[in-house]
Amino acid sequence: MSPRDKTASRDSRSSTKTARKSTVLDIGRPVTAAASKPRPATHLNVEAPTIAKPRITPGKNTKSVFIKTYGCQMNVYDSERMADVLAPIGYAAVDKPDDADLVILNTCHIREKAAEKVYSELGRIRQHKERNKPDMKVAVAGCVAQAEGAEIKRRAPVVDMVLGPQTYHKLPEMIARVSRETGDVLETEFDTIEKFDALPAGRQAKGYSAFLTVQEGCDKFCTFCVVPYTRGAEVSRPVEQIVAEARSLASQGVREITLIGQNVDAYHADGPDGAEWGLGELIRHVAKIGGIDRLRFTTSHPRDMDDGLIETLSTEPKLMPYLHLPIQAGSDRVLHAMNRGHSYAHYRDLIAKVRAARPDIALSGDFIVGFPGETDEDFEATMNCVREIGYASSFSFKYSTRPGTPGATLPHQVPEAVKSERLKRLQDLLYTQQREWNESLIGKTLDVLVEGHAKEPGRLFGRSPYLTGTHFDGPDDLIGQIVPVTITSAGVNSLVGALV
Ligand code: SAH
Ligand code: SF4
Ligand code: F3S
Repeated sequence: MSPRDKTASRDSRSSTKTARKSTVLDIGRPVTAAASKPRPATHLNVEAPTIAKPRITPGKNTKSVFIKTYGCQMNVYDSERMADVLAPIGYAAVDKPDDADLVILNTCHIREKAAEKVYSELGRIRQHKERNKPDMKVAVAGCVAQAEGAEIKRRAPVVDMVLGPQTYHKLPEMIARVSRETGDVLETEFDTIEKFDALPAGRQAKGYSAFLTVQEGCDKFCTFCVVPYTRGAEVSRPVEQIVAEARSLASQGVREITLIGQNVDAYHADGPDGAEWGLGELIRHVAKIGGIDRLRFTTSHPRDMDDGLIETLSTEPKLMPYLHLPIQAGSDRVLHAMNRGHSYAHYRDLIAKVRAARPDIALSGDFIVGFPGETDEDFEATMNCVREIGYASSFSFKYSTRPGTPGATLPHQVPEAVKSERLKRLQDLLYTQQREWNESLIGKTLDVLVEGHAKEPGRLFGRSPYLTGTHFDGPDDLIGQIVPVTITSAGVNSLVGALV
C-alpha cells in the first residue's frame, strides 16, 4: 500500500505518525529594513530540518548518533530526549552523518512536502551507507514513522528501525534487537504516559533556552490535520515531573523555558495543593524555580484558552508577552468545515481579553488558504481577520491534502493556482504587518537573552521578549545573559540593535 493510500487511524498497529519540527533560530544575516526577504520566521519552520548539536565528544569506546529533526517544537524536544536516552549506552551526538554509527531522522507528516523530504534524505543516506559506512544503522522516528509504519521499510529498505513519537524510551532495546538481528523493529504504540515515565529525569541542556513538553497529543480532529493520528490523544504530564525537568535545566544554566504541547493550553493535572491545575497555575509554579527568568508557552488552541491563563499573562512577570494562537481561517463557514470548534467572533473576543490583560502582547497565528470549498468571499474573511487582529508574526500555508483525514475526500478542492495566489496576497499583508510591528520597536530598549553568535564576526544573536531574533555587536561573555539592547533597525523577521 502506498503511503498516499494509507488511512490515518488512531489504531497504533495499523497507522503511524508524523512529527514536525523546529525552531531553528535564524541566526543568519541581520535583516535590515531595506534588505529583508519575507520568510516564515521565528520559531517554527516546519520544512527545514535541525541537526541536534553534539554534546559529548566521541571517545574511544563510544558510538555516535546523528539526529536530524524535521517539524515542530515537539520534535525538537523529542530529539534531545532521544540523545538523553542514548548517552548512557555510549552514543555521543555528532553534527554530521558521515561517520555516525546510527542516523535518526525525526520526521514530520504535517504537509505532503514535509513527509516527502524524508524519502529523499533516505536515498542520500543509502548511497552514503553503501559507499562509506556499511555498518551504519538507520532509524526513522516521529510522525512519518507513526503514520506510515512498516510501509517505510518497504519503500526504503535502508531503514532498520521505525519508531513512533511515544516509543523513544525503547530505543536502546530496539538497537539491541537490530544488532542481534532478532525481533520486531517497528514500535508505534501510543503510551504517552509510559514514555515520559521512562525517559531519564535529567536533561542535558544545550543552551540557554529550552523546550519542555508538558502536554502531548490532540483530541480536536481538525479535518485537515494528521496530528491526532500521529501523536495520539491529549495527555498532560504530572506537575512534579515537569518541575524536576525544569530544575535540571535551570541547574545547567538554562534561563528561558518554553512549555510546549500540541494544545498546550489544554494542560490539566493534579496540583500539589490537591486542586486541578491548568496551564496558568503550572506557569506560576515553574516561575518560582530559581535561575529561570523567562517563560513562554506554545501552541495554544482558541477553544482551550481560559481566563486563568489570560490573567497569568498580566500577573506573571516572567511570562513573556508573546502568544501564538492559530485561527487558520476567518470565515465561520470554513472554520466549521475545518471542525475548529470556534467561530471568528470567539477568537476576536479572546484576543480582546488577551490585549486587555497584556497590552504589549506580540500576537502570532497560523493560517491555511485553499481549504476545500473556500470561496473568494471566504478568503476575504481571512484577509479581514488579519486586518482586524494585526499580527506580529505568522505562519501561513497552502492547504495540503493529507491521506486519511476527512478533508482529503471533501468535494470542491481548490486549484493549486488559486491557493498560490491567495497565499501570496495573505503573506503580503502578514509580512507588512510584521515589518510594521518590528519597526514600532525602533528606539525602544528591549531585554535580549543572548543565545550565541550571529554569523558575522563580533555579532551576537538573541531573542527579545517578543521572540524576535535580535542582532547586535558585543563581547562573547554576554552569551547566556539577558542584556538591554536599543533597537536601531527592523526587518520582517528580525531586529538590529546596539547594546546599552
Ligand atoms: N495544534 C496547533 C498546530 C498544529 S500543526 C493548532 O491547532 O493550532 C501546525 C500548523 O500546521 C497548523 O496550525 C496549520 O496551520 C498547519 N497545518 C496543519 N495541517 C495542515 C495541512 N493539511 N495543510 C496545510 N497546513 C496545515
Ligand atoms: Fe491539528 Fe487541529 Fe489538533 Fe491543532 S488542534 S493539532 S490543527 S487537529
Ligand atoms: Fe509535524 Fe508531527 Fe509536529 S506532523 S508538526 S512533527 S506533531
